[in-house]
Amino acid sequence: MKLFISEGNPHCLKVLSALGVTGVQCDVQCVNHEERVVPFLSRPAVPALLLPNGLYLFSSNAICRYLFEVNGQESSELCNQWLEWEATDLQPALLQALHMAVLQGKGSEVSKVLQSPLNFLDQSLGKGNTPYLTGEAVSVADIVLWAALYPVLSESSLALGEGKSMKAWFDRIAAMHSCQSAAQKVLQGKGLQGMKSYMQRQPAPHSNQCRETQPCNSNLAECEEGERVVSEEEMEAAAHTWNKGLNPAPLDTGRQHPILPQEGKRNILVTSALPYVNNVPHLGNIIGCVLSADVFSRYCRLRGWNLLFVCGTDEYGTATENKAREEGLTPQQICDKYHAIHSGIYKWFQIDFDFFGRTTTEKQTEIAQDIFWRLHKNGFLVDDTVEQLRCENCQRFLADRFVEGTCPHCSYPEARGDQCDKCGRLINAVELREPQCKVCRRTPVIRSSKHLFLDLPKLETQLEQWLEKSTSTGDWTANAKQITRSWLRDGLKPRCITRDLQWGTPVPHPEYKEKVFYVWFDAPIGYLSITANYTDKWETWWKNPQQVELYNFMAKDNVPFHSVVFPCSLLGAQDNYTLVNNLVATEYLNYEDTKFSKSRGVGVFGDMAKDTGIPSDVWRFYLLYVRPEGQDSAFSWADMALKNNSELLNNLGNFINRAGMFVTRFFEGCVPVMDLQQEDKRLLALVGWELQQYIKLMDKVKIRDALKHILNISRHGNQYIQVNEPWKKIKGGDIERQRAGTVTGVSVNIACLLSVMLFPYMPKVSQTIRDQLNAPQSCISTMLYGTTGTFVCSLRAGHRIGTVSPLFQKLEVDQIEALKKRFGGQQPEDEPPKKKTTAQKAASTQPATVPAPAAPAADAATVNGVDPEKAKQLTQAVAEQGDKVRALKTQKAEKAVITAEVTKLLDLKKQLAVAEGKSPEPAPQKGKKK
Ligand code: 2FM
Ligand code: ZN
Repeated sequence: MKLFISEGNPHCLKVLSALGVTGVQCDVQCVNHEERVVPFLSRPAVPALLLPNGLYLFSSNAICRYLFEVNGQESSELCNQWLEWEATDLQPALLQALHMAVLQGKGSEVSKVLQSPLNFLDQSLGKGNTPYLTGEAVSVADIVLWAALYPVLSESSLALGEGKSMKAWFDRIAAMHSCQSAAQKVLQGKGLQGMKSYMQRQPAPHSNQCRETQPCNSNLAECEEGERVVSEEEMEAAAHTWNKGLNPAPLDTGRQHPILPQEGKRNILVTSALPYVNNVPHLGNIIGCVLSADVFSRYCRLRGWNLLFVCGTDEYGTATENKAREEGLTPQQICDKYHAIHSGIYKWFQIDFDFFGRTTTEKQTEIAQDIFWRLHKNGFLVDDTVEQLRCENCQRFLADRFVEGTCPHCSYPEARGDQCDKCGRLINAVELREPQCKVCRRTPVIRSSKHLFLDLPKLETQLEQWLEKSTSTGDWTANAKQITRSWLRDGLKPRCITRDLQWGTPVPHPEYKEKVFYVWFDAPIGYLSITANYTDKWETWWKNPQQVELYNFMAKDNVPFHSVVFPCSLLGAQDNYTLVNNLVATEYLNYEDTKFSKSRGVGVFGDMAKDTGIPSDVWRFYLLYVRPEGQDSAFSWADMALKNNSELLNNLGNFINRAGMFVTRFFEGCVPVMDLQQEDKRLLALVGWELQQYIKLMDKVKIRDALKHILNISRHGNQYIQVNEPWKKIKGGDIERQRAGTVTGVSVNIACLLSVMLFPYMPKVSQTIRDQLNAPQSCISTMLYGTTGTFVCSLRAGHRIGTVSPLFQKLEVDQIEALKKRFGGQQPEDEPPKKKTTAQKAASTQPATVPAPAAPAADAATVNGVDPEKAKQLTQAVAEQGDKVRALKTQKAEKAVITAEVTKLLDLKKQLAVAEGKSPEPAPQKGKKK
């Protein structure tokens, strides 16, 4: 007898344990997973047992049962029942659990999948009250179940096996020497990781949510690789569609400006939050707004919808004035400079705006003032006198972030104008003791100033009615709805819309002529004015809610301004404005394990991406792959390399390149005749289904989820080529050669479909594929066919393709490591220990409550513990963190979240104090415990 096993295969653990326990004499041969041990089986089957009579057993449970029988232990009925349960109930759950733990890194979710079978086992053992499943002696059922469960129960990180009876039973068997050595032989002491290569060859299991044919929008990641069972009807329908070919009335891809709403068409207006002009956007800003909006816009255009995509720079406000002071330029010069920088970055990222404008224009003044007068006339503005700090030296009123002083509550000396970072209380700037202007350090004076407020309470009912309708009929992301609800729950308060500044849209009211509009009143009006700078007929978009569907793209911190404040301005202005129908907000993208920070030089900013040598399309792909859709996500260099090398190079690129190369090499560059067999039709149905899911998800702006379906198609394609081996069949007889032709023809058509589906994500790659395939312009019409299976043959037999070449390049480890270093993504613990600065030494002798500054540079500029360069960086970091805390408060984020961020802020401030040579602790307060 000869037993064939392979490493890492859990079924081999069963048979090897059974062999050991029974002591049956048998040769054991270790083969690789793919080896075809059983000659008459079409697929590799390991384990397999070659019997003395030349027959084979190739089901692990049958082999185990046979070995026990040879040893004189017939299996009882109870024993057979357990074996049956193992095969039908336990195995599917185990397969899914192993798939999650070994391949998806979702070990923490495994317990959910296995809970029910493990409970059943534990309870049965408890009830039976015998040491083994079928009685006092170990049986084949014990060995089979033990071996099946060994990989998951022996893995402590999965934290399974709570059940007492089950644990005792498991340990009892694990103590048997033959079981131990079988486990060692199969898993090689590597635990679950020892099964990786085996698991990669297994078809992905269905999760429960995905058994239906409906797309599981809510949890797509779960079923991203799920293999569908395709019915005969689906196969025939797919083949029928395929033969119909393309619609003779192709998509009109030319765009005639100005684009205006058209009668009888779906008219879609897309905006991306207007980026602040005073900063270079980082990857997180790009994915949250312009890139997401671009992908959706490109998709809508493929669907033949009439779409206008506008954006521009948000240019007014204190931040711009400040930047101008910092750079020694005028605000106008800052705006011009950075507007050009933004334009350049978005161009490099291929953001295809119909118009990219700016807010500092005459149209902005005209429209903002018009809305203002309407609100005024309709009685939605109220005035109030506000006491403010004014620096006479700088000749300006001090916005909250430009004043610092002693906290009136806890005496912390560096409290800001709006909050104290020590005690966390909100402060009114005029209450600060010993206030200082942060720019010139002089003492400001209190001045009262009259301001205008938008009367949100008066608009609340109208707002709620509109919100009810918009959120129930349109597509609002869950975070957008939740943030909006929490604003309403607390009741709306009047919001000040004027500021004592110079750089802003002037308030036209004679009593307020020194003032400008607050940026958040002004900025969203930018959408309208930018459109007005694009076309005089801007009102056909913005005062046309009957005909226009408005999509606003943004990151979640912008939500309340788009869902509450701006809609209130427009509702109050009463001029039939188009209000947002679909509010699409992303969560945050982190950089490695930290946050993007310009001041600390951490992260990739828009202007740096092109210097990495990585193509714009690959950047787009990866950002969209990790789009923070539904939860925060992170950019990671290692992951980017992994996704490039596995998904783009090995999966997508490999498939498209092979399909094209087969046409070139085996069929002289012409698409061969295709004679569809069942297997091909099945593939057409699978591809059609993936396309359908893609369309459904894109319609709902689930951009990240939809991308996975593109990658599924090329995975199906690779598998199809792998199984059919056209490179071998082309060398065979007529029938085989014809088969090679069909497989090649179907594959190259799938490649063509992929080029179209890729267009929103990777526009250049999409075009390159179409050029390589010499695809007819009409292939782009694929998405015009509604939401049913629409995969058609667009490259007919005889079509001559172009020159095929590889689409992607490998990202090498050292290249990625170098980039990671360059952009500061290194984790502090990875860094070599640095010499302590005087300041650090001082800091580390402080009481234990004072954290030492994180990895400060030991640099020559440090004098007497003062490190001006570092202090400058930290000042900026403190400002950024302060902004973040304020934004969280504005959004009414959860208290724990705010507290965590305040803690970080305090820590940064301490570091700053150290860098400035000051004591890092605020002056202790009398009579209070520290
Ligand atoms: O958060 C920001 O970057 C803002 N400049 C967004 C403004 S969006 C719109 F209202 F203009
Ligand atoms: Zn001052």
